[in-house]
Amino acid sequence: MKFTNEQLWERFQKFYTEFPSIQLALDLSRMNFSDAFLVSMQPEIDRSFRAMAELERGAIANADEKRMVGHYWLRNPGLAPTPEIRREIEETLASLKSFVREVHEGRVQGARGPFKNLLVIGIGGSALGPQFVTNALSHPITDMLSVRFFDNTDPDGMDRVLAGIVTELGNTVCIVISKSGGTKETRNGMLEAKAAYERAGLSFAQHAVAVTGIGSELDKVAVNEGWLMRFPMWDWVGGRTSELSAVGLLPAALQGFDVDSLIAGARACDEVTRVTDLKRNPSAQLALMWFYAGNGRGSKDMVILPYKDRLELLSKYLQQLIMESLGKGLDINNTLVNQGIAVYGNKGSTDQHAYVQQLREGLNNFFATFIEVIRDRTGDSIPVDPNVTSGDYLSGFLLGTREALYENGRESITITIREVSAFSVGVLMALFERAVGLYASLINVNAYHQPGVEAGKKAASAIIDLQGKIVDFLTHKKSSPQTVVQIAEALGNKSRAETVFKICEHLAGNPDTGIRRHEGTGPAAVSYQKAD
Ligand code: PA5
Repeated sequence: MKFTNEQLWERFQKFYTEFPSIQLALDLSRMNFSDAFLVSMQPEIDRSFRAMAELERGAIANADEKRMVGHYWLRNPGLAPTPEIRREIEETLASLKSFVREVHEGRVQGARGPFKNLLVIGIGGSALGPQFVTNALSHPITDMLSVRFFDNTDPDGMDRVLAGIVTELGNTVCIVISKSGGTKETRNGMLEAKAAYERAGLSFAQHAVAVTGIGSELDKVAVNEGWLMRFPMWDWVGGRTSELSAVGLLPAALQGFDVDSLIAGARACDEVTRVTDLKRNPSAQLALMWFYAGNGRGSKDMVILPYKDRLELLSKYLQQLIMESLGKGLDINNTLVNQGIAVYGNKGSTDQHAYVQQLREGLNNFFATFIEVIRDRTGDSIPVDPNVTSGDYLSGFLLGTREALYENGRESITITIREVSAFSVGVLMALFERAVGLYASLINVNAYHQPGVEAGKKAASAIIDLQGKIVDFLTHKKSSPQTVVQIAEALGNKSRAETVFKICEHLAGNPDTGIRRHEGTGPAAVSYQKAD
């Protein structure tokens, strides 16, 4: 089904809504749903609104982990279910701002003087929000500190980051972020950073700040080593919805971003998206469109297309927020549902020279979400053609691509914001957070746990244990090279020969391990030996 231009204009007037208090507009006209669909979903969306209201009142919305879900209180502490939680939020924000002021005024400094750089170590929900916000709001001249990230346990990745600041570590404040305080990638990043500071003759503790749960492993390290500062993470804030806790606010404030506007944007958006009238609630409209597009089964991918370089990381941020929240095997009744929505994207118009070809003409397995930003730049523009600017082209490419997709039966949503600012970034985060929560209710999954992530963490730790045993065994067998089958059998793990092979190959490929490879034809004939 496809609407004519005349019908589209009718639909546009009906399904284009402006939300003045958050300076955002949402256009659903190019999604081909019917009025009957909206009517049929009314009881479902009403149920989702009720679930959301209970969640905001402090219900144990994450039943598996037996915890409340309180990211909405972060931007309006008055809504917190207890005075203690309200106080914790307010006091943490006040102490965060006072710490940042001391850093900016040079009253808190590194071993070589005032802080110039910021190294943020975290992963997943403890990195993607800060990375998105940095990319959206940073300015090379006016930022108070220049930021780098360790968001992986890739040694080469960390070396590359360190190479840019190695001579300035004495002016670099390092924030280690981990809600659980036990995430290995982050722990490794912290140890690598610490070693780099020590190689430079500096005390890591004098430059390190922890954002973590009170009493976590990371918290204990920070206390024992006497780190510069600690900020709490609470069990009622999920990793991927933690941007407006110290996780996101500390890096943002240190860079000099307007965190009050970030919070104000999210709070204003919460007020709009709390309304239980579908026509006046953009998050509910989004959730329903996701349901319509994929039949409530996620059968269409969500392609995020912001036409603005500053929003390039939005799709990466949303990919985690949406896929980690909705991608669930079991629903709330423990029925196998294998739910989720695949999310990808980058930015327009760049993507028009990449995958948009397939979007228009190839598999029709997606719906696009265009993000339009009205304001082109801070200053004036030069004409690149008579009376036409680069920004006009960017806008033209957005409108042209949207039309070209629709002509070929590809549906899209358009979100319009006035400009990229701390306020609008806060709005966008809150808009999608609530859309995810409402959609999760529609499909009856728990959006706030991540059992799959935990499963991956356990499996990786079993591999590291096995590696330790392999190294011990090869050390013991020094004189005679061992095949992977011999190693696996000796370790009582015959069925894991392939894993043993992969571990040995990695060890042998890194000379500092002292493991050598003896060639053979095929994985079963290759053998390994620990050098003296
Ligand atoms: O959203 C989530 O819960 C996850 O992506 C976590 O943020 C991620 O696993 C990192 O966890 P932690 O902050 O405990 O180190």
